[in-house]
Amino acid sequence: MESSLPKSLLVLSFFLFLFVHLLPLCSAKKSLLTTYHKGPLLTGDVNLSVLWYGQINPIQKSAIKTFIQSLNNDHNVSFEPRVSSWWNIVESYQTVANKSLKKSPKITVKAVKEIDDDKYSIGKVLNDDSLAGLVQKASGRTPNTVAVIFAANDVTVKDSCSEWCFLHGAIGKQVYIVVGNPENECPSTCAWPFHRSENGALGLTLDPPSGDEGTDSMIVHFASALAATITNPYETGFFGGLSDKPLEATTACKGVFGTGAFPGYTGKVRVDPRSGGGFNAHGLNNARFLLPAVWNPKNSSCWTLM
Ligand SMILES: *[C@@H]1O[C@H](CO)[C@@H](O)[C@H](O)[C@H]1NC(C)=O
Ligand SMILES: *[C@@H]1O[C@H](CO)[C@@H](O)[C@H](O)[C@H]1NC(C)=O
Ligand SMILES: *[C@@H]1O[C@H](CO)[C@@H](O)[C@H](O)[C@H]1NC(C)=O
Ligand SMILES: *[C@@H]1O[C@H](CO)[C@@H](O)[C@H](O)[C@H]1NC(C)=O
Repeated sequence: MESSLPKSLLVLSFFLFLFVHLLPLCSAKKSLLTTYHKGPLLTGDVNLSVLWYGQINPIQKSAIKTFIQSLNNDHNVSFEPRVSSWWNIVESYQTVANKSLKKSPKITVKAVKEIDDDKYSIGKVLNDDSLAGLVQKASGRTPNTVAVIFAANDVTVKDSCSEWCFLHGAIGKQVYIVVGNPENECPSTCAWPFHRSENGALGLTLDPPSGDEGTDSMIVHFASALAATITNPYETGFFGGLSDKPLEATTACKGVFGTGAFPGYTGKVRVDPRSGGGFNAHGLNNARFLLPAVWNPKNSSCWTLM
């Protein structure tokens, strides 16, 4: 009897410890998870109005356009894993948002318009005010399109070197995406895994599948931005985390590209024997891409192509 009192006290204090220390952790984690907030998603035909800002070379443009065309193309791509399988996960958010849908409707993405602004019409720094004008310029007279601005490597885009490496949002009903080329300005933040990251020693790098670090970084961030735009166009769709650093479709899985990833390591990818580049997705015209993990809202985990 004598020893049972301290023992039960010990057990009690152990549970108290669990309660006090672990419960808040669990609930904090939960509220940070990417969940649905009942607002509209984008679906059906998603038309893009693309504006190339600054000197962006034709090879870069063509790689980005091939990526866009690969999203909805599974028959013309002979090898797995395919870009279109990655897109299917983005499409699958619809059945989580609307339980009465048995199957996720297709989301067909097309670049219906392209504009070149290769003379830097509003200078080499884009901030909130000038961006609004560019978004308008991209989408002007083409209603119901998503304005997509790609900026050259000598353009500074406000906030695009931050944690997420892209901007997306809506000005009124006009949805937009901005992706810069990080190769000069912030490669250690936004060009990993093709460039050494800040946490140097830890970061294992890969050669870019296209052979160009800027191009493949832009594709990673455009893919992320597009997934976030479809699933959270007006900041009322799928997100979690803190308001200044929302965790959306792909940012919830930042730094993950394949199974077995940990900070500084992409996880499993393939190596292209032609270029030596790391990739995880096949697209049209034999193109190979490295695509980020997507948050799978059905089982709350990061989904990767490999
Ligand atoms: C895909 O293949 C079909 C039939 O082979 C062809 O008609 C179509 O143009 C191809 N599409 C693309 C985007 O290459
Ligand atoms: C959910 O899907 C059903 C079946 O297609 C449709 O009738 C309904 O309008 C959708 N609900 C919302 C909120 O979109
Ligand atoms: C998207 O563009 C196509 C033409 O390529 C057009 O037929 C369709 O209506 C457009 N969709 C929307 C939602 O505007
Ligand atoms: C989540 O679902 C996907 C398929 O939709 C599956 O591949 C994956 O293993 C699942 N993850 C977990 C943690 O259950």
